[in-house]
Amino acid sequence: MGKALSPARGEIWVENGGFRDFQSPVRDVMWVFYPSKYPHHVPTGLGKTSGRSFSTHITPLAGLPLRNQTIPGGSETRALLWIQCLILLISTILLSSCQPQSELQQLPYQPEYLEAAHPPSFSPMRIPADNPLTKAGVALGRKLFFDPILSKDSSIACSSCHQPELAFTDGKAFSTGVEGRMGKRSAMSLLNVGFYAKGLFWDGRVATLEEQSLHPVRDTLEMRHSWPVLLQKLQAHAEYPGLFRRAFGIKTRKEIDSILVGKALAQYERTLISADAKFDRVMREGAQFTPQEKRGWTIFFDASPAVPTSECNHCHVDPLFSTLNFENNGLVAALSLDDYPDKGRGAITGNRNDNGLFRVPTLRNLKYTAPYMHDGRFKTLDEVLDHYASGGHPGTNVSPNVRKLKLSKQDRADLIAFLNTLNDEN
Ligand code: HEC
Ligand code: HEC
Repeated sequence: MGKALSPARGEIWVENGGFRDFQSPVRDVMWVFYPSKYPHHVPTGLGKTSGRSFSTHITPLAGLPLRNQTIPGGSETRALLWIQCLILLISTILLSSCQPQSELQQLPYQPEYLEAAHPPSFSPMRIPADNPLTKAGVALGRKLFFDPILSKDSSIACSSCHQPELAFTDGKAFSTGVEGRMGKRSAMSLLNVGFYAKGLFWDGRVATLEEQSLHPVRDTLEMRHSWPVLLQKLQAHAEYPGLFRRAFGIKTRKEIDSILVGKALAQYERTLISADAKFDRVMREGAQFTPQEKRGWTIFFDASPAVPTSECNHCHVDPLFSTLNFENNGLVAALSLDDYPDKGRGAITGNRNDNGLFRVPTLRNLKYTAPYMHDGRFKTLDEVLDHYASGGHPGTNVSPNVRKLKLSKQDRADLIAFLNTLNDEN
């Protein structure tokens, strides 16, 4: 600062030293300087690069408005000043027209609030106060959900592993992420996920959908992306900034962050409801079970001494067909609590007694969600019933409700007929 007392040819002085707003790799361009603390205020000076750094050419001429500024150094410099003023004018116009802020602010932000669906038998969905459902928020979340931009090599979207036609699963035992990487667990159905109030994932390690959405993006076995790079892509995108504006009222592209991405995805996921299976219609509108379905229902709910007990409804309670608790259903053979290959809930709580526990999954839409269990080990419901009928593998924390069952061939067929009434064709 103040190194030179008068500008040399090719140098342009600036009114104050508070430069910072524009950096360009291009040499010898005209610079508009803003006071550093107020980047959106009027420019206060001009500068010119004459090398990689221009700071040495800046001498503060304190307080003088640019118009009145006289720069010592003769007519040549004064002529230069006029040119500078002209360029300042043009660049101010140009800059203000390409300021991302005003570009987004021209778009309307008029949130249209939506009611979360509330099927009669369900308890109300809990929605965080800072992320109410809006039409634009759900639409944005939907677009993000189906957009492979979220993965490192743009090969995989959320919907690759959560496919609508498979009740938002992927039909595989283990999901495949980018570059063909194999996941360690089976993808979960996202239908009714907005009602899962006791923790998400097979092990319940995440509390909210907002937070959950941040995981797959950086999961090295799923999308393998880095948030800073993804956010740059979204900010520079032709459509997303406008959609984020409509959904969340952001003023500049730079405001797109992972929190808003998570909020939008969560809003969309809260609209994925399945409550129109035959079972629901029987409960609601007096639709009729067939005699076989009715008998299966009775077995499932242990509703009559005339049928054998199945114990299913201790854990798979309606309407979600899950208590959402963590249980060991004797699926995996393990010599001791330390020997479960996937510790499940135990890896989260650090409590040995939780090893081998997984969240009870819903039994809705089983027609679409095979293969079954956290490791996709069973391909059919027959195999599932073989497992439960056998009483499963012993283990100190296996639920006492999993024990040898006496189910005839007919009982099993009836039970499966009932389970099929939980498929929602809509
Ligand atoms: C490569 C496959 C894959 C991709 C891509 C993927 N998921 Fe998943 N998703 C899974 C698997 C596997 C699980 C279970 C993981 C576990 O329990 O550890 C899961 C679980 C979930 C759950 C928990 C559901 C519940 O009932 O608790 C939600 C919600 C979810 N994913 C949403 C998303 C969203 C949103 C995206 C996109 C940002 C996404 N997933 C991308 C495979 C995937
Ligand atoms: C002690 C609680 C408990 C009982 C009783 C129980 N289950 Fe389960 N069920 C679970 C748990 C926990 C899982 C997930 C286990 C895993 O993946 O490790 C599960 C998984 C399942 C699945 C796989 C669902 C999917 O999407 O992968 C089906 C199907 C199922 N149970 C049906 C039944 C039936 C039918 C009965 C009665 C015969 C029954 N369950 C009894 C706790 C229970």
